Amino acid sequence: MLNIPLMKNNILPEDIEALVTFLRTEDRLTNGPKVVEFEKAWSEWLGVKHSLFVNSGASANLITMAVIRDLYGPGEVIVPPITWSSDITSVFAAGLTPVFADVNVSNMAMDEEEIISHLSENTRAVFLTHVLGFNGLSQRLLEELKARNIPLIEDVCESHGASMGGKKCGTFGLASNFSFYYAHHMSTIEGGMICTDDDGFYQMCRMYRSHGMVRELTDENMKREYAEKHPDLRPEFLFAVPGYNMRSTELNAVMGLSQLPRLDANNARRVENLKLFISHLDPEKYFTDFAMEGAVNYAFVVLLCHPSEEKFQALTDMLRAENVEFRRGTAGGGNMARQPFVRQRMPGFNPASLKNADIIHFYGLYTGNYPTLEKEKILGLCECLNSL
Ligand SMILES: Cc1ncc(COP(=O)(O)O)c(C=O)c1O
Repeated sequence: MLNIPLMKNNILPEDIEALVTFLRTEDRLTNGPKVVEFEKAWSEWLGVKHSLFVNSGASANLITMAVIRDLYGPGEVIVPPITWSSDITSVFAAGLTPVFADVNVSNMAMDEEEIISHLSENTRAVFLTHVLGFNGLSQRLLEELKARNIPLIEDVCESHGASMGGKKCGTFGLASNFSFYYAHHMSTIEGGMICTDDDGFYQMCRMYRSHGMVRELTDENMKREYAEKHPDLRPEFLFAVPGYNMRSTELNAVMGLSQLPRLDANNARRVENLKLFISHLDPEKYFTDFAMEGAVNYAFVVLLCHPSEEKFQALTDMLRAENVEFRRGTAGGGNMARQPFVRQRMPGFNPASLKNADIIHFYGLYTGNYPTLEKEKILGLCECLNSL
């Protein structure tokens, strides 16, 4: 049996050691100096001015959409059907309206023509997901959004280190979101990051992360203005926005600081693994024409070229027999427009109109690609796949 889990060894003994050492020496474990240190290290790694550590990628999504609503007002957000639930939930939660744009198969991100065709005077943002390590952006899309003055938010939760033209994904838009969940490129157990070069956006996120409180602002002028505007309220308990408590802890930041120095080397291994996988797949049977430039995947995408229910069943039977863990429809949920929480809120929308998303939903899956995945197992997996 091949025995390939989705992820392996993403938390190492040295990470646990770092945690234990920290616990032995510190008694303040809530959001503090280690969080700030991790945020700074992450900003440097990514190449942005500000990073804000939160307790999950979903929290990063929720805060980001809340700030978009506050800064740009109610309206529509262009969203992908191939993403995680929180990318859509966050739009609903902010009182914004999701507008689905279909994806293209080569990078599974929203197709640029689809996005552009859905832009209107009601568009408040484009919320693009870089799916499973593939860059989802194009220069043309960036230029079009800039010309129309529409903010781009990048969800990079599945794509740490992916790039376009040598520049990291997560640095192109107004803001970006990352996740450090166990099965991702690196892990803080649970965790997420909001990144931006925009001072005002960052200050808003700071308040949203912590109950909406003005005292979280690091901009002293903003703090003073709020205090002067509300003389009836105590400045240290001034709640300016309808915020959440989405702070993380020092422990998660210690994990992040221990993991980050390994990220680039791990990603290089993942890229090698993916190239080996794609080059040994039978292109007559499986889609291999992926947008590989700048891709850094923790997954091998398996997509049937000539889909049928029987072939997909044979594929999943083989993977189960070989004990190869997999997720259908990429992240698991497939075409998000098919999920009940979307159907309830968008009863008039036909999910089947998202044709490429449906191909991935019904005939696509991914298996794990982790740094220590052995070459023989990758070749063995290709052999099993090609024999079907
Ligand atoms: C694209 C995307 N966005 C957001 C999230 C949510 O991240 P988290 O699991 O850290 O809440 C995920 C989850 O894995 C994801 O794949």
